[in-house]
Amino acid sequence: MTTAFEPTRIGRYTTRNRIVMAPMTRSRAYGPGASATPLMAEYYAQRAGAGLIVTEGTQPSAQGQGYPNTPGLHTRTQVEAWRGVTSAVHARGGLIFAQLMHTGRIGHPSLSGLAPVSASAVRAAGTVYTPTGAQELVTPHALDEAGIASTIADFAQAARNAIEAGFDGVELHGANGYLLHQFLATNVNTRTDAWGGDTTGRTRLTVEVARAVVDAIGADRTGLRISPGNPFNDISEDDVEATYTALLEALDPLGLAYLHLAEGPDAGLTAILRARWSGPLILNPFTPGSWTGPDALDRLEDGSADLVSFAALYLANPDLPVRLAAGGPFAAPDYSTAYGGDHAGYTDYPTLDDASVVG
Ligand SMILES: Cc1cc2nc3c(=O)[nH]c(=O)nc-3n(C[C@H](O)[C@H](O)[C@H](O)COP(=O)(O)O)c2cc1C
Repeated sequence: MTTAFEPTRIGRYTTRNRIVMAPMTRSRAYGPGASATPLMAEYYAQRAGAGLIVTEGTQPSAQGQGYPNTPGLHTRTQVEAWRGVTSAVHARGGLIFAQLMHTGRIGHPSLSGLAPVSASAVRAAGTVYTPTGAQELVTPHALDEAGIASTIADFAQAARNAIEAGFDGVELHGANGYLLHQFLATNVNTRTDAWGGDTTGRTRLTVEVARAVVDAIGADRTGLRISPGNPFNDISEDDVEATYTALLEALDPLGLAYLHLAEGPDAGLTAILRARWSGPLILNPFTPGSWTGPDALDRLEDGSADLVSFAALYLANPDLPVRLAAGGPFAAPDYSTAYGGDHAGYTDYPTLDDASVVG
C-alpha cells in the first residue's frame, strides 16, 4: 500500500484515500432549470470510492453560466435536485464538494439572456458552444462596484445552498480562464481601481469571494482551485509567481480546507506555492500530451502534494482507486461523449468487476 490509500484530512473531514476526482463539466443537467438528474446521481455514486469528488463546474448565478446544460446552485429547484446526487454519494461513503464556477467572459447572451461580465471589457479570442452551435465570444461588460458586490454575494449564497443540498463543501473555481482567473490575469484585468492593477488589486476578488464563502459555510468546507499561467480561454499572465504567491499569502490565514493546484509545465512553481501554503494541497499534475496517469501517485510519495486529482482517467474508470491499487488495467476516456448526451460515455464505463464478468 502506498500513501495514496491512506486517509488524510481536508478541513473538517477525513478522506478515505488521497485520490480525488477532479471537476469535469459534463453538460447533462437536463433537469428543470439547469438542475441535476438521477443519471448524474448514478454517475457520481459510481465514483464515490474517491477520497473526494469535486463536481463539474456549477454556476452560482444565472449570470455565471457559460455553457449549455451545466447545473446551477442558485434556485430552489437546483438545491432540491442536487440532494439526489449528494445522498447517493453519501450512501456509498463518499465525500463530495460542489465546484462553483462563474465563467465570466466565457459565455454568450443566448444562454441566459444576460450579457457576459468580466474584470474589463476585453473579449476572449475564440468561440463558445451555444444551444445553436458555436458562436464568436462577445465583449463582456466590466463589472462595476455593485456588480462585484453582488457577484461575491452570489458565491456566498451558492455555498449556503450547496450545504443545504447536502454537499460537504465547495471548491471555488479560480482556474482555467473563468471569472476569478480573469481578474487575476494581466491580459484581461486592465482595471485601474482597487480590483485591478498590482497583485493586491488583481487577487482581491478571489480573496473577497473566499472570505465571503468562509463566512457563509466555514473555512473547513471551502477549497480553491487555481491554474497559474494556464493560457486556456485566452489567458496570458505576465507575473505568475508574484500573483500567485501574493494570492496564497492573503488566503493562507483563512485556513481553507484545501488548495487544488492545476499544475502547469513549471514544476518549480508547484514547489514554491506548496511552501507558501500551510493547508492541504491537491495536485492535478501537468501531463503533457495526455491525461494524468497512474504515475501521478509518485507525487504523493515524493511529498509534492497531499492528494492527487485525476480528471480524464476518472471519467473512464469509475472504480479508479481500486484499479490504481491493483496496478490497472485502465480504460481510456472517449472525449466525443464528454459533453452532453445520455448515459453513453457517462455511466456505462465498467468497473473492474464488471469487466472481469464480461471478459
Ligand atoms: C471533460 C472535461 C471537463 C472538465 N471540466 C472542468 C470543470 O468544470 N472545472 C475545472 O476546474 N476543470 C475542468 N476540467 C479540467 C480537469 O479538471 C483537469 O484539470 C484536466 O483535465 C487535466 O487533468 P487530467 O489530465 O487528469 O484529465 C475538465 C476536463 C475534462 C476532461
